[in-house]
Amino acid sequence: MARTWTMAASTAPRLLLALLLVAGHGVAGASGIRVDVIRLPSAPPFPAFREAPAFRNGDECPPRGSPEGRVDVAMTLDANYLRGTMAAVFSILQHTACPESVAFHFLAARRDGPDPLAAIRATFPYLDPTVYRFDPSRVRGRISRSVRHALDQPLNYARIYLADTLPADVRRVIYLDSDVVVVDDVHKLWSVDLGGHVVAAPEYCHANFTKYFTDAFWSDPELSATFRGRRPCYFNTGVMVMDVAKWRLGGYTRRVEEWMAVQKQKRIYHLGSLPPFLLVLAGDIKAVDHRWNQHGLGGDNMEGKCRSLHPGPISLLHWSGKGKPWLRLDSRKPCTVDYLWAPYDLYKAAATALEE
Ligand SMILES: *[C@@H]1O[C@H](CO)[C@@H](O)[C@H](O)[C@H]1NC(C)=O
Repeated sequence: MARTWTMAASTAPRLLLALLLVAGHGVAGASGIRVDVIRLPSAPPFPAFREAPAFRNGDECPPRGSPEGRVDVAMTLDANYLRGTMAAVFSILQHTACPESVAFHFLAARRDGPDPLAAIRATFPYLDPTVYRFDPSRVRGRISRSVRHALDQPLNYARIYLADTLPADVRRVIYLDSDVVVVDDVHKLWSVDLGGHVVAAPEYCHANFTKYFTDAFWSDPELSATFRGRRPCYFNTGVMVMDVAKWRLGGYTRRVEEWMAVQKQKRIYHLGSLPPFLLVLAGDIKAVDHRWNQHGLGGDNMEGKCRSLHPGPISLLHWSGKGKPWLRLDSRKPCTVDYLWAPYDLYKAAATALEE
């Protein structure tokens, strides 16, 4: 008896491991596949996050699970940004009247090391997020090196492939970076009138648009003619409302990819995934109130100096730029704006650190 038991105990983990490997390979290639993660019955991989409370729909909300009133939110899921993702999700749930109507869609790269989805599930046991495998090889060969290495991660480009990845019943989606917190009801952003445009986002027409592109771009009349008939303005791709159906119909993924191919040959811009978006969409988006993206709180791309808030009301704070609030708080040299992020931090060690 004891011998049989020993055998079973030693083969079971191996069997699970084999299943894991099969699952990992089986979903590679095609996008838009729901990944059912097989987990080994072991300690949670990220024990450092505390569990968020259950957020329930108010009386005025549609019942949980009903398609009516559903708000689809897409983010990437990456072990390195997990603390940011947790805070973003927590902030959304905390400030919306109908938290159970928010459907989260996570785009994750191939799993290596601890599974961030398991951590999300443990922290938000009442959420039922959908996870999609983003195949980095889809974009890796198209990426040119930028001034900031973090921007060159394939997952940073996943937003280009959102429309191809999400299921057909998702007609509109809010894409959010992992370094944001939402301090207003996300449903307000969701219900903006796109006015026939494929993307809605805050637009910044006073920003110097020229600087995102190189002289090689501006001096080539054929290339710069792409902006003819448009008044291109900077917008930040970390917060976008996207008409998914229109994106597919218009072949926008291919259009962005085409500019990335030009970049590989001629170096027409400086940063990562932002400029090809600007090339295709700047001047042709629906402008949303600036309150929905107080960006740049991470500081500039080179030095990451502290920034202060722009005047005016705020619905979403965005630590775009080099510095991230969790790193600066941990280093005990936070910027003032980082204290606005701290209340959404679910990292266990952080609470004690602040109390000291
Ligand atoms: C905008 O940026 C370009 C390139 O960096 C620079 O040459 C130009 O002087 C700037 N324009 C303004 C108005 O600051």
